[in-house]
Amino acid sequence: MKKQWWHDKVAYQIYPKSFCDSNGDGIGDLQGIISKLDYLKELGVDIIWLSPIYVSPLADQGYDIADYYDIDPRFGTLDDMDELIAEAKKREMYIVMDLVVNHCSDEHVWFQKACEDPDGPYGKFFYIETVKEGEKLPCNWRSYFGGPVWEKLPGHNDKYYLHVFHKKQPDLNWENPELREEVYKMINWWLDRGLAGFRIDAIINIKKALPFKDYPADREDGLSGMQNMLHDAVGVGDFLGELRDRTFLPHDAFTVGEVFNEKPEELPDFIGENGYFSTMFDFAETVFGASQKGWHRSLDITPDDYRNCVFSTQKKVEGVGFISNIIENHDEPRGVSRYIPDGDQCYESKTLLATMYFMVKGLPWIYQGQEIGMENRKVRSIDEVDDIASLNAYKVSVADGVSEQDALDAISKFGRDNARTPMQWDDSENAGFTTGTPWLCVNENYTWLNLKAQRGRSGSVYEYYRKLTSLRKNPEYKQTIVYGQLEPTLEEMHNVMAYYRRGEDQTLLVMGNYQKEPQTLPLPGKVKKVLLDNCEDLQIRDTDRSIRLKGYQAVVLELENDPGE
Ligand code: GLC
Ligand code: CA
Repeated sequence: MKKQWWHDKVAYQIYPKSFCDSNGDGIGDLQGIISKLDYLKELGVDIIWLSPIYVSPLADQGYDIADYYDIDPRFGTLDDMDELIAEAKKREMYIVMDLVVNHCSDEHVWFQKACEDPDGPYGKFFYIETVKEGEKLPCNWRSYFGGPVWEKLPGHNDKYYLHVFHKKQPDLNWENPELREEVYKMINWWLDRGLAGFRIDAIINIKKALPFKDYPADREDGLSGMQNMLHDAVGVGDFLGELRDRTFLPHDAFTVGEVFNEKPEELPDFIGENGYFSTMFDFAETVFGASQKGWHRSLDITPDDYRNCVFSTQKKVEGVGFISNIIENHDEPRGVSRYIPDGDQCYESKTLLATMYFMVKGLPWIYQGQEIGMENRKVRSIDEVDDIASLNAYKVSVADGVSEQDALDAISKFGRDNARTPMQWDDSENAGFTTGTPWLCVNENYTWLNLKAQRGRSGSVYEYYRKLTSLRKNPEYKQTIVYGQLEPTLEEMHNVMAYYRRGEDQTLLVMGNYQKEPQTLPLPGKVKKVLLDNCEDLQIRDTDRSIRLKGYQAVVLELENDPGE
């Protein structure tokens, strides 16, 4: 694999609205982020991805962009953005923005012009179809946020536009070369400003299976989930290759794709040598157990399932490309609430999970608050919910006949607000996030679960994350951790996750006892050094051929080179 500047880095995702509010309006902002750069440096972060901060009505929290060339005043100004890029540079950090170009906002001037003149040049920036009174819609696809993907074009009784997400997010028509030119111009404008690259939103959706047609309905509403059309859509690569060549490649930009539903044979095109993107996220565990019928029908994921998902991706990408590893993001519940069995959330289990995903091959991403072990927040009433996906999921559950309480429980478990509650900096009011009223409730556990309580305290989740980032950067082990081959082991054992990382002259063994009861695991050879141990009490004798791990104990061991004797 050709080495790239970003391979040995640690990446961090900021959800700006909930990170740090500098002016007391209850909304996090760019000056707030700038004030925390030294903190992120201390944590060992190099690359920072900001969820969208462009001008937006925030119908989908900024994933609905009304002006790609400016910052929403709630987040700051272009000057603040330039300052952030410059301040990051000073600290040898890189800023990555969110690139949302499958759709824009219905408040974008392109869409407004399309409404004025659907047959004019801007009408062709979107998918607009004529549907006369009494005729059926062009297709029965269900939007990701519920309901049909077609909405009446404002001002026109016989015209509909396509939105695969919310109706305030009209899809851009990538088949139109003029639209593509506008997108490239905008990307280059940002890259010329000093941005390191982009996280690329929902990108698989830019290719539609055309002409529009119905698929078999999969719920009572008569609609069909988007996966059917995505399966049939061929040729996304033509768009993505052009996008790369016209923007990212000439800038040597770093890009990470949000790619669901890629076709397996296309993986090398996506992240192989000269792929469309530098890397993409592994969502194998994210989507595990998901049901087309709603969140209330989704399956739990067990430790063995989690391990199998991670390893299946590792096998898939070995020799192909460099994957990006996460346990959570702004669309997912908190990783410690999802991947640790209910009731077992504690320092040991949180750091075990951290060790497991951080030490596999790929680029590790930390989502804000993950480094202190932030957890899901229990939703008590639907009125507390902001997220449009959760509001829709609630309706879907109730329509499927489950009780209100069960519908709420599904939101508590899977809702996107879980990761969007304000960052818990300290135990002062509103967790130190704002002096005003936070736009979304703070998780009540901030009184004990906050950064201040953990920083500088050994035995805290935060200090453990710092150990992980510094191990990744340790010149003695870096090559093996970044490039060493990953080889799963003890896969037949229950509630165990273990793997080798084999470097040129070095073998590391990562082992975790993924349950609360202790467990004894076989050792393949002599241990040279214990590099990490979340319980800090491992004693290994020369003669040992097994180790006893406490509940949720995780260790990173360096093995003697000659395990033969
Ligand atoms: C991506 C984003 C999500 C957003 C959607 C539409 O999945 O991560 O937050 O709602 O795209 O832009
Ligand atoms: Ca603010």
